Order: sequence, then structure tokens, then C-alpha cells
Amino acid sequence: MEFSAKNAVIMPEGVFIIGTYDENGIPNAMNAAWGIQSDYEEITLFLGKHKTTENIKKTKAFTVAMATKDTVVISDYFGVETGNRVNKIQKAGCHVHRSAHVNAPVIEEYPLTLECECTGWDDNTGILVGRIVSQQADESILTDGKVDIDKMQPILFDMASGSYRTFGPVVGKAFHDGLKLKD
Ligand SMILES: Cc1cc2nc3c(=O)[nH]c(=O)nc-3n(C[C@H](O)[C@H](O)[C@H](O)COP(=O)(O)O)c2cc1C
Repeated sequence: MEFSAKNAVIMPEGVFIIGTYDENGIPNAMNAAWGIQSDYEEITLFLGKHKTTENIKKTKAFTVAMATKDTVVISDYFGVETGNRVNKIQKAGCHVHRSAHVNAPVIEEYPLTLECECTGWDDNTGILVGRIVSQQADESILTDGKVDIDKMQPILFDMASGSYRTFGPVVGKAFHDGLKLKD
């Protein structure tokens, strides 16, 4: 069966919450599914023109929090309302503090946040590149000093059904299982 290219299912897609300040220091957050790790200390996101991108042009900084099962409602809200109209952080009842490393807010309701310096924004392509300067993780999601995905319960965006889902069980070991077939 042939599907329209507009309904292309490219999985998995994450749920990234981009935190920014405007020129008056008012914090904002937006939801973005189109993002990837593009190097060890780099994230790339694909964005239209938003309050968020206007903010980044001014501050050259942003945070990226990973949406979780416990933050589904506020995370979706950040994707269906614009900071051009409302103070979304206030409306969602979130608490923020300024990152110690970049001029962007850390939203305390999220357990894992990347603090990024903007190293590229292109108005034409909508490609945003950030150098990850530091990372904040709550003690509550750590096991032996490492981020524990089972505790964190990050969510994915399921493009096929337009829903959010949690990760499933571990089914293999990376850089290991394929070695069985390697000469
Ligand atoms: C599940 C979901 C995923 C989204 N992914 C993106 C995305 O990858 N890129 C984008 O530009 N907008 C995306 N959006 C739309 C923005 O989050 C939305 O336009 C938001 O209102 C922008 O906020 P702002 O104007 O306060 O910056 C997404 C929205 C939702 C609900």
C-alpha cells in the first residue's frame, strides 16, 4: 500500500523541550520532535519560525529537556501554545532557574536537561545547532551515577498515531550483539 509522503513514519522521534529567554528575561518552552544528536557534544533540531527561534537569535543559547511520562501534559502544552501570546512557563506552573553555563532557563520539572550554546541557526533551512556545554540530571533518575532510562521514563513521539509512548524493554546490546556475525 502506498502512503502519502506527508505521512512518512520516521521512528523513533524524541520529545525535546527547548527552553529560552526573551530579551526581557521571560522564560519560554517549546516542544520539538525533530531533533538528533549530531556529535558527542552537539544536538541539531529542525524548526519553523517560533518565539523560541526569535529568542535564540538574541541570546545565542537554549536548553533541551527530555520530556517524560510524568511531564506529558505540560510538554504537549508547550507544543500547542506560543510564547508570543502567553507566558507558558507560568501557565504550566513550572519552576525555572538560569543555567549556570548559558543564558537559558532550566525547567525544574524535567529530570534531564542539556545546556546549549547556539553554534548555528539558519532562517532559511530552520536548522538549529547547539554545542552541549553541560548537562543537569536529577538524583532521582540516576543509578550508580548513570542516567537510568527505566527511572527517567522519557517519551517518544509516535508519528503514526500522533501519540506519546514510553520506551519498551531492552532487546539487545549495542556494539556487541552484531559481533556474533563478524569474522
Ligand atoms: C508533538 C509535537 C512536536 C513538534 N515538533 C516540532 C518540531 O520538530 N519543529 C517545530 O518547528 N515545531 C514543532 N512543534 C510545534 C511547536 O512546538 C509549536 O509551534 C509551539 O507553539 C512553538 O512555541 P513558541 O512559539 O512558544 O516558540 C511540535 C509540536 C508538537 C505538539
